[in-house]
Amino acid sequence: MVPSPARIGVSMPSLQHVLSVRQFDKARIDRLFARVREMRGIVKRGQCTILGNKLMGAVFYEASTRTRFSFEAAMLRLGGNVITTENAGAFSSATKGETLADSIKTLGCYLDLIILRHFDDGSAQIAAEVSTVPVINAGDGKGEHPTQALLDLFTIREERGDPSKLHVVFVGDLRHGRTVHSLARLLSMYDTRMSFVSPDALNLPDTLFQDLIAEGCEIREYVGLREVIESADVIYTTRVQKERLSGMEGVALDGSDYALTRELVACMKQGTIVMHPFPRNTEIPTWFDDDPRAAYFREIQNGLYVRMALLEELLNPFPE
Ligand code: NCD
Repeated sequence: MVPSPARIGVSMPSLQHVLSVRQFDKARIDRLFARVREMRGIVKRGQCTILGNKLMGAVFYEASTRTRFSFEAAMLRLGGNVITTENAGAFSSATKGETLADSIKTLGCYLDLIILRHFDDGSAQIAAEVSTVPVINAGDGKGEHPTQALLDLFTIREERGDPSKLHVVFVGDLRHGRTVHSLARLLSMYDTRMSFVSPDALNLPDTLFQDLIAEGCEIREYVGLREVIESADVIYTTRVQKERLSGMEGVALDGSDYALTRELVACMKQGTIVMHPFPRNTEIPTWFDDDPRAAYFREIQNGLYVRMALLEELLNPFPE
């Protein structure tokens, strides 16, 4: 078989696990994205057997629609097989007191790769430390969601080009939104100008804010979208993560304050794109879906191709 152009070239150590965006530098991202573009063609042509002998387990302790289905679709479209549990907390030995570490060691006896979503920050790292097979972090509490950030970055680059020339405005629950945490860290490598719009109670975690400053990023915080919308190239909206708000019930958390309105849309530039990791609540009204600047369903589609490329990288590594 003729090797794909994207799989020849820059030599770098293969990834063992995908736990954090900190594992990715620009060269690794460029190589991955070249392969992501080829995955579109592979899906169109169908009949792919690249991962024909591999078995993936999707182990989700938290709810998911896009992440789980796109990983499963990605594996099946590459010719692999899938076993899945969509409510691992209730339908596994976790109900009998089994630790995550024991469950992961067990699953490694049967599977070639584990996709893990868990409600605890740092759980993917714990899993990777004991796992005999690659682990992909599909969201660990309010920690990270690296594969979402990669598909977000891919979308930004496809739609708006070089991230170093862009102004990206993050809106909503920036404190608990793991997709925001991962994407902001990725963009910091490109010196992207970033603005963060949220109520005080939901602003960026201090450690992340300080890390971005230390990286030399141009960042600012705002309480209203109106103040920055005119200069935004990308608006990255998020929902309030109600399930992670314990102890903050007294705080005014009306997501609708951060919703796109017709007045705000009228202030947006022609080429600005609006993204959202989904699920959405009231942040983006459905009447906006037909606007060409609504990029979120294209973003969702890209998730399939990015996850195909990641699965291939872990299970059928690039030649070194
Ligand atoms: C996000 C998540 O689970 O972190 N969704 C996703 O994976 N696409 C965002 C969210 O739940 O709000």
